[in-house]
Amino acid sequence: MKILVTGGAGFIGANFVNYMVNEHPEDEIINLDLLTYAGNLENLKDVENKPNYKFYKGDIADREFIFNLFEKERPDVVVNFAAESHVDRSIENPSIFVQTNVLGTTTLLDASVKYGIKRFHQVSTDEVYGDLPLDRPDLFFTEETPIHTSSPYSSSKAAADLFVRAYHRTFGLPITISCCSNNYGPYQFPEKLIPLMISRATADEKLPVYGDGANVRDWLYVLDHCKAIDLILRKGKVGETYNIGGHNEKTNLEVVKTVLKAVDKPESLITYVEDRKGHDRRYAIDPTKIENELGWVPEENFDTGIAKTIQWYLDNEDWWKNILSGDYQNYFQKMYIDKGRVSE
Ligand code: NAD
Ligand code: TYD
Repeated sequence: MKILVTGGAGFIGANFVNYMVNEHPEDEIINLDLLTYAGNLENLKDVENKPNYKFYKGDIADREFIFNLFEKERPDVVVNFAAESHVDRSIENPSIFVQTNVLGTTTLLDASVKYGIKRFHQVSTDEVYGDLPLDRPDLFFTEETPIHTSSPYSSSKAAADLFVRAYHRTFGLPITISCCSNNYGPYQFPEKLIPLMISRATADEKLPVYGDGANVRDWLYVLDHCKAIDLILRKGKVGETYNIGGHNEKTNLEVVKTVLKAVDKPESLITYVEDRKGHDRRYAIDPTKIENELGWVPEENFDTGIAKTIQWYLDNEDWWKNILSGDYQNYFQKMYIDKGRVSE
């Protein structure tokens, strides 16, 4: 199989490419990424010289580029990870989310119809289902839960999913969609909760917790997500959506305290800051469908996964320090310091 992976220089995409290139030497992996602030080719240094791997820099919303790439490479399968992925950025600047997540996805869909792609897999998120109340731990997102988005990010992802489904129904494109819970693990950009807290705690910097820290996320180790997508590509039923999650719900405060304990830093570093606008309260996935139909089960629980992840960030300080010394600092200034959320 020739698999075109978009967004393969980002966090989950890079983990997926690394996994697929090594796990399936019989498959060819073509990685297409625009290398935005979130794309980092350092994430791919272990596979860059492998014979079954190739990289292209380009924009999924650039029609001419995408059609030329499909003409040249003739992929069998497309796995679309490419996206703007950070909720806080979507609150600051929604339009780039429409551009990449909606227009980019429909551009890929058009090319996929024209070139007879055998499977288009859309990597989506549990955030398309909105949020659940904190006082109803019995409720979970299933594949039947209505789309009910909160942020410009989740709205753009939901819009993309609707187009993916429309191209299946209208044009017969063989699609699958996966909606996964919050991922964590190596190569996550240090603007997201877990790597942000690890990098700041090790430097004895304040840890900004939004609101009261009681919001709940359902955490999945990134490799378990990658393995689920691989399984869906091979065994998933065309036209179906699969929710992916491992029942690892934690409050943000629990996550931050776990990080502090692991790096042996005091809880006094925690600082409560102004809440995120429209902040979703709780995400929680019911993974029964993928477990029963495809036999997927996660290999890591939160305790094992977070220990591995923290160790990775401690062993790879150069990786995140390179990022922190670049554009990210302007971002932190703008989102936290200029807004008076943290004073430093
Ligand atoms: P990320 O921000 O780390 O990576 C996104 C990648 O897409 C980057 O390499 C970036 O350069 C690339 N990209 C952005 N715009 C592009 C464009 N126009 N053309 C080509 N490439 C472009 O994101 P991530 O956390 O790895 O998420 C990957 C996918 O998984 C996204 O679609 C996201 O919605 C979805 N997802 C993420 C999570 C999570 O917890 N991170 C959970 C569920 C689903
Ligand atoms: P994030 O990693 O941005 O993922 P998402 O918003 O897609 O779930 O945030 C995870 C949770 O952590 C979310 O409830 C917001 C919260 N959070 C903080 O409290 N402080 C921070 O500095 C960040 C980035 C997130």
